[in-house]
Amino acid sequence: MEITAGKLHLRPWRPADAEAVAQALRDPEIRRWATRTPEEPDERTWIADRAAGWADGSSASFAITDTTAGEVLGHVRVRTPGDGVGEIGYWILAGARGRGVAGHAVDAVARWAFARLDLSRLDLRHAADNPASCRVAQKSGFALARLLTEPSWDGGGETVEVHLHMLSHA
Ligand SMILES: CC(C)(COP(=O)(O)OP(=O)(O)OC[C@H]1O[C@@H](n2cnc3c(N)ncnc32)[C@H](O)[C@@H]1OP(=O)(O)O)[C@@H](O)C(=O)NCCC(=O)NCCS
Repeated sequence: MEITAGKLHLRPWRPADAEAVAQALRDPEIRRWATRTPEEPDERTWIADRAAGWADGSSASFAITDTTAGEVLGHVRVRTPGDGVGEIGYWILAGARGRGVAGHAVDAVARWAFARLDLSRLDLRHAADNPASCRVAQKSGFALARLLTEPSWDGGGETVEVHLHMLSHA
């Protein structure tokens, strides 16, 4: 499953992407905003988990790459729990931030998800104090629907304030 959207090409993750994934798993900003599990996966396990999502239909994960050079720029995933509502998540590698990559990739994957998956709505959740992610949501047409307080994403005892954005199938 591959999507070409202008300067971006989105395709499933491959074992050869291990170095890019290792970079992301070490990145303090990506670690700060991601949901953390007690066992932190290494890059090979992370890639295998993405492939398992495709195999069992629970999620569709794409490496965002540069159409011309093939360089990996980031990640976007749609989780599909099976109730007709998907959830989109993403990160961009440090060297590729601030040039519209996340916004374009989220747009492309949202269009693909509504066309190919049986979804009535896509949700997007981000920490309230992550304004760059809020901007990505707004640019891609996800309206702010609700403010939530959730248990801390890093497994600690604190709570996190969350924006829930939604995009309905036209
Ligand atoms: C958030 C993230 C995905 C954005 O990726 P990106 O490719 O740089 O995003 P884009 O370039 O498409 O858009 C970023 C927008 O946020 C804005 N922005 C960036 N930092 C900001 C800040 N501190 N306050 C307000 N807006 C900010 C940019 O100006 C831009 O808006 P514009 O296009 O209107 O100028 C990227 O920074 C990232 O991966 N961060 C770490 C992981 C993460 O936060 N993942 C999301 C978890 S929900």
